[in-house]
Amino acid sequence: MHLPQPTFTTVGVITDQLLGKFDAIVLPAFASDEGPELDSNEITAQILTKAGENFTEILQQWPAFAAKPGEILELPINQSGNLVRLFILGFGSDSIEEARRAGAAFGRKVKSTGYSILSTYSGDYDAALAHLVALSLSQYGWNLKSDYSKSDVSAREKGATSFAFDGEFSDVVERATILAEATWRTRDLIHTPSNIKNPAWLAEQAKSLVRRTKSPDLSVVVKKGRELDKFGGLRAVGNSSPTSAPRLIEIRYEPVGSKNWPHVVLVGKGITFDTGGVSMKRPYELMIPMKSDMAGAAAILAATVAMVKIQPRVRITALMMCAENMVSGTAQRPSDVITQYGGTTVEIINTDAEGRLVLADGLAYADLELKPDYLVDIATLTGAATLGLGKQYGAMYSRNTSLTAKLHEIGERIGDRVWPMPLQDDYLPSLASPVADLNHDASAKHFSAGSVTAALFLEHFAGKRNWVHLDIAGPARSEVDSGEVIKGGTGFGTRLLIEWLASLS
Ligand code: BES
Ligand code: MN
Ligand code: ZN
Repeated sequence: MHLPQPTFTTVGVITDQLLGKFDAIVLPAFASDEGPELDSNEITAQILTKAGENFTEILQQWPAFAAKPGEILELPINQSGNLVRLFILGFGSDSIEEARRAGAAFGRKVKSTGYSILSTYSGDYDAALAHLVALSLSQYGWNLKSDYSKSDVSAREKGATSFAFDGEFSDVVERATILAEATWRTRDLIHTPSNIKNPAWLAEQAKSLVRRTKSPDLSVVVKKGRELDKFGGLRAVGNSSPTSAPRLIEIRYEPVGSKNWPHVVLVGKGITFDTGGVSMKRPYELMIPMKSDMAGAAAILAATVAMVKIQPRVRITALMMCAENMVSGTAQRPSDVITQYGGTTVEIINTDAEGRLVLADGLAYADLELKPDYLVDIATLTGAATLGLGKQYGAMYSRNTSLTAKLHEIGERIGDRVWPMPLQDDYLPSLASPVADLNHDASAKHFSAGSVTAALFLEHFAGKRNWVHLDIAGPARSEVDSGEVIKGGTGFGTRLLIEWLASLS
């Protein structure tokens, strides 16, 4: 269960009465050659007048404060007035990245305090959006501690911070709320442990999220059992679990009149736990974080649900390919040959390369039945992707360079950064099999490049579609508390997908 989620509002003219309602005020400061400078906007001026202090002078008494991004100064103030707490928050030069860092630092500072905070910040749209989203995401937390999760809602809500901004910010507040809420949702799904979260549970979550929007534009269809007969990859992986059968969760965003709008199919890897199967993960420490192997499916769910608030002129079908990769008497074996959706046969080599099997079914189903204009998959697919790019970038594969340029640009701006990687045909021989159309672990020719060969495997199933593959094994999860993230699921890809989908209309 997550910690209380911050809320954002806007206010009009600052009156004494209004000021008295806040627990804290935060004034942005920018770095300059002459030292820190406060914003010179109207709302800051009003507050400075009300406070009756000369802040520029006061700031000079703290020479150590340089207004670097994320630097926070809490000033002692005249308690007889209306102001309770006053923070000066450093923004550096207020680039998007600096505004994000300032937001993350301040969010951490006030996390779970329950403060109601007035911010006088007034940056440009993109920097402001980054700032507000970071203010929210940095306050994320999740636990199932009995005293917290059994406490009643109103007690928990007491810890929620609220932020008020100038009225000019209403667009930013609205979009930031959508992005933050969706990312919190993705994180909640990732943080939920796998004894609770199985494919059936994810299907229930999808249904209840869609129901709660009360929007006629969204619908959910769940395929299971015999309905998955043609989905040989999903079945081969999912049948390994005696308790948690696979599900294909199909969410549609289809407003009235959308028939001729571009159709996007999103495919997400939804492995609710990845033991590696019979080819078990070792050392076992590698297995512990594997409840997050459904991060791609969670991101497409949250992004699609968020569409009802943005109403872009696109049709969306999100395919959450959900299965548990377990060890049991019904688990698949190395050397099995399976038939994927559409008839391609695949020789199983390493049962830990399960993600591409479930994705292949989703991609082929999309290509053959749904015939999308854009086909995007997102998956915690290979440890190899992390070797090259580390944890700050997702690996992005596509033959369509204008599409990758666009996704890269959106990613840098919105905070989910992706980097183009090559679909290198020279490595295709690694996918050959003596007994089937393809082998699936692509290690045969020792090309290395595990993230590239996985992408080449997937491309086979995407047909001639306008396809992009995002391997988010690195950024989907953080091992440290830092900036916008805490140790655990980051919600990576949620913001990127939302902004990209919104840009299509
Ligand atoms: N879920 C893992 C990939 C992964 C690794 C995600 C680390 C997050 C962090 C995936 O199913 C997997 O096991 N991939 C194998 C592929 C190999 C067997 C070809 C890998 O990366 O080692
Ligand atoms: Mn695996
Ligand atoms: Zn996996």
